Amino acid sequence: MVEPIIAPSILSGDFGNLVEDTKRMLKNNPDWLHVDIMDGHFVPNISFGPMVVKALRSEVPKEEAYFDCHMMVSNPLQWIEPMADAGGQSYTFHYEATDEPLKVIEAIRKAGMKVGISIKPGTPVDVLFPLADKVDMVLIMTVEPGFGGQSFMPDMMPKVEELRAKFPNLNIEVDGGLTQHNIDVAAGAGANVVVAGTGVYKADDPAKAIADMRSCIASHLH
Ligand code: DX5
Ligand code: ZN
Repeated sequence: MVEPIIAPSILSGDFGNLVEDTKRMLKNNPDWLHVDIMDGHFVPNISFGPMVVKALRSEVPKEEAYFDCHMMVSNPLQWIEPMADAGGQSYTFHYEATDEPLKVIEAIRKAGMKVGISIKPGTPVDVLFPLADKVDMVLIMTVEPGFGGQSFMPDMMPKVEELRAKFPNLNIEVDGGLTQHNIDVAAGAGANVVVAGTGVYKADDPAKAIADMRSCIASHLH
C-alpha cells in the first residue's frame, strides 16, 4: 500500500539562509524534502551540488529530514557516491540521461540509497514499464525540468494513470507546478508523492498547504 508523501522543494527556499530556512520548513511537518540538483547541462540551470547538500545535512540530521534527491544531471553515475556521502536518502535519475538505466539502479542500491527514475514531459511513459518493478519510485515531471514556478501540465496525467493501473504499489511522484489548488487532478490520476516548491514555500500557510495536499491524496488512495 502506498502512502501520501508531501515533499517541499528547497529550490524555492532561501539559499542565503538555507539551514534556518530548512529548519523552519520542517516545522510545517512535511514528509520529505525534495532536493533539486541541476548541473547546467542536462537542464539549462545550475542549483547546487553535493557539497551544499552535505553542509545542510550536517545541520539537519537524517532522522529529521528525508532528502529526496532529484538529479537533473547528464551523468547520473558520477554523482551517486558524492550524494550518498552527502546524506541523500533517495536518488532519482533521469531516464533520458543514460543508456544504462539498470547499471545506474544497481549503483544507487550499492551506495545504500533508494532508487527513483524520472521522465521529462516529452518522454513516453512506456519506457518505464520494464524498469518500474526495479525501482522504489518513478517521477513523472509535470513541467520541463530546470526551474521552479512554472505551470503544471495536466496533459501528463495519462502517464500517471497508466502507471498506477499497472503498478498499484509503486510510489509515483509528480513534480512541477503543484499546489493545494490543483493537486486533486494529480491525486485523482494516482500520484501519491507530491513535490511542491512554490506551492508550499510561497503559500500563506505552508503547514496548511502540506496538510491539505496530504489529505487530498489520502482521500483518493482510500
Ligand atoms: C523543476 C524541479 C522542481 C521544482 C518545482 O525542475 O524539479 O522540483 O522545485 O518547483 P515548483 O513547485 O515551483 O514548480
Ligand atoms: Zn524536482
